[in-house]
Amino acid sequence: MKRVAILISGGGSNMVSLVDSMTGDHPARPVLVLSNNADAGGLAKAAERGIPTAVVDHRPHRGDRAAFEAELIKVIDDARPDILCLAGFMRILTEGFTGHYAGRMINIHPSLLPKYRGLHTHARAIEAGETEAGCTVHEVTAELDDGPILGQARVPIRPDDTPEALASRVLVQEHRLYPMALRRFAEGNRTTFDLPAD
Ligand code: GAR
Repeated sequence: MKRVAILISGGGSNMVSLVDSMTGDHPARPVLVLSNNADAGGLAKAAERGIPTAVVDHRPHRGDRAAFEAELIKVIDDARPDILCLAGFMRILTEGFTGHYAGRMINIHPSLLPKYRGLHTHARAIEAGETEAGCTVHEVTAELDDGPILGQARVPIRPDDTPEALASRVLVQEHRLYPMALRRFAEGNRTTFDLPAD
């Protein structure tokens, strides 16, 4: 059984979809949900599900990412995870951290990577006149929102779309994509897949 730690900063809807998927014959189980923000709504959702939670606040370490990451690593490694899932974890990670978990860490990003790395992905896609948006699960490497793509789901952009409306339709697909990507990753399958439309 693979042990999975999930890192969040906010509401944790992707975390919930991952946790709820890890039952039965699934090859992995959640062992920790960690947030850099004590107010993250996802912490209560994890606790309700009986998952150990932790908070490592980045603010006391302002200006010293290495010190923040050293504390993160200590708390994460105490839980002995085989796999780390970033699920709306909104901190930039340095090479020290990504290197420590190389080959073991995956992330979900709300765009069809390699397009629209970084923030405000939906507004940027609409602004650019794209007809299609989506989400990507990828292995985490030292470069932001880079690394081998594990899976993608596509969402059409409507002529009258707003960033908020598009984000909520993409989020529905994130909740389908991430559990499937985690399951395949936990099984050792790192080939790329496209999530079929439902
Ligand atoms: C999700 O849309 C996720 O793709 C995005 O944050 C949201 C978190 O929602 N992640 C990023 O933008 C990472 N750069 P959630 O807390 O409800 O899962």
